[in-house]
Amino acid sequence: MKRIVVTGAGGQIGSWLVPELRARYGTENVLATDIREIGGESESGPFRVLDATDGHALGEAVREHRADAIFHLAAMLSAVGEKNPRRAWDVNMSSLLAVLGVAREHGCSAFTPSSIAVFGPSSPKDPTPQDTVMRPETMYGVTKVAGELLCDYYHGRYGVDTRGLRFPGLISYGAPPGGGTTDWAVDIYYQAVEQGLYTCFLGPDTYIDMMYMPDAVRAAIDVMEADPDVLEHRNAFNVTAFQLAPAQLAEVIRRHVSGFEIKYDVDPVRQAIAESWPDRIDDTAARAEWGWAPEYDIEAMTVDMLNNVATLPKGAT
Ligand code: SER
Repeated sequence: MKRIVVTGAGGQIGSWLVPELRARYGTENVLATDIREIGGESESGPFRVLDATDGHALGEAVREHRADAIFHLAAMLSAVGEKNPRRAWDVNMSSLLAVLGVAREHGCSAFTPSSIAVFGPSSPKDPTPQDTVMRPETMYGVTKVAGELLCDYYHGRYGVDTRGLRFPGLISYGAPPGGGTTDWAVDIYYQAVEQGLYTCFLGPDTYIDMMYMPDAVRAAIDVMEADPDVLEHRNAFNVTAFQLAPAQLAEVIRRHVSGFEIKYDVDPVRQAIAESWPDRIDDTAARAEWGWAPEYDIEAMTVDMLNNVATLPKGAT
């Protein structure tokens, strides 16, 4: 992996991944793309506006950049996907098909994030094994299962070096998440600093796997750098750092923000999605096959989040 194209570079993951890739592989070697101008760090190096569903435009970008790897981050998340399921299918699947076609044509490896959303109510919840029943109830989850299969297919049929991770909810400051069920775990930090009060759309004891973004970015790069001969589960590995519920995180934040209060105004759609997902996924395969281990626990993440959110201009996300 030497010359890289990133789709969805302005999103929650991309805004962290692009600077890290540029630090490791050189600014000029990483072409950031997004459907719109994004400003910020991603535009401080090579950047172009690109609709990831447009295979022709993506192919041109890969050819001109002489890329050997694609990180495909553009996608619609779970909650926003339930508002327009057909569009979620179209955006998520047509962009992935474009990426895989281009990767095949230009000999690129391809990283695609999968998600805990591939699991559903009939999957074992605690722990959820690497290989188990995957019958999700959200369109986002349906596209992620189909995406994993499509990546397997392009690997088996055409030899494309496809790799992926089943990310849990990702927590970060900077670019906000794009309409997911796990967004509460980001919003809570902003509201704690700005208002001292957060009204949560999930119930107090709803546990979901989570991870701090610096670990997620390192995991994405590490799985792409792993020796292909040792990978049994290329699409896609369960990875997690810890399990979080709103009441529990509020307690941790209260140790740093005295008087912080949490209230609940449960959104039945997102609550149902959260309850259909695992409480805790088993990431033994990632640990064994390519040495995955998170660095941030809940406390270390909370200190870092609060410090950074507090130094951003008020209202910035
Ligand atoms: N964070 C995502 C969501 O909530 C899960 O992959 O949709």
